Amino acid sequence: MTARIIDGNALSAKLRGELAAKAAELTAKGTQPCLAVILVGGDPASAVYVRNKVAGCEKAGIKSLKFEYPQDAAPADVLGKIAELNADPSVHGILVQLPLPKQFDEKEVLEAIAVEKDVDGFHAENVGRLSQGQEAFVPCTPNGVMEMLKSIEMPLRGAEAVVIGRSNIVGKPMAMLLTAAGATVTVCHSGTRDLNFHTRRADILVAAIGKPKFVTGDMVKPGATVIDVGINRLPDGKLCGDVDFESAKEVAGAITPVPGGVGPMTITMLLVNTVVSAERSLA
Ligand code: GUN
Repeated sequence: MTARIIDGNALSAKLRGELAAKAAELTAKGTQPCLAVILVGGDPASAVYVRNKVAGCEKAGIKSLKFEYPQDAAPADVLGKIAELNADPSVHGILVQLPLPKQFDEKEVLEAIAVEKDVDGFHAENVGRLSQGQEAFVPCTPNGVMEMLKSIEMPLRGAEAVVIGRSNIVGKPMAMLLTAAGATVTVCHSGTRDLNFHTRRADILVAAIGKPKFVTGDMVKPGATVIDVGINRLPDGKLCGDVDFESAKEVAGAITPVPGGVGPMTITMLLVNTVVSAERSLA
């Protein structure tokens, strides 16, 4: 059996079409959705992500502002820019690309962003709201994964879901969203004793580890839905995920590819959050 491929590019194209229509409507009313992106330092992967986010905005008719700072930037300068953007009513979303250089206190920076402009959903208040089932900006990658599961009509209530990875950006919010949708969720991590025992029970297996081709076919339950959040660059320059696609697709029922899976959906959900924020600003 070969798994059904969950095409993140196709789903993104559909959602971004709907989004562009909404953005155009808001623009016609005098409120063009606007996302401000802050990039600090020269991390090449971060530069690519930011470029893709800005390009995504442009295509959807969302205005983007990009602010770049050197690796040795003073945190006070970046915090000052965030305060300025918080106070600017024409800006609806503020995103600080992570990771930040070591002189920064990441938590301080994320919490400096106004809660109502926190389109990444990383502010502690948004995280708390999400955990309590209140309306909140949901982090883009796990939110994109939920859209992908919805697109294949994956039954979530009662499903066994296993998330590998416990990061604030992916693993923890992913577990919260799956729990809220009625799945029975296990979060595995580097300290998990018998990882394969858990992964082989999973109807939904989400890999967010950051290790290339870590999840192999023998770790997958036959027919499971495998979601690969990893983006790793191999020595030959090619991209690969945290899942060994070739072996896993022979066992899984559905699987996301890398590239063309979760990656484009992350940006799509960022654009969705920005448009939602612009809509809310009119209410
Ligand atoms: N670094 C890796 N993923 C993300 C993300 O989704 N948002 C931000 N701001 N930084 C990241």
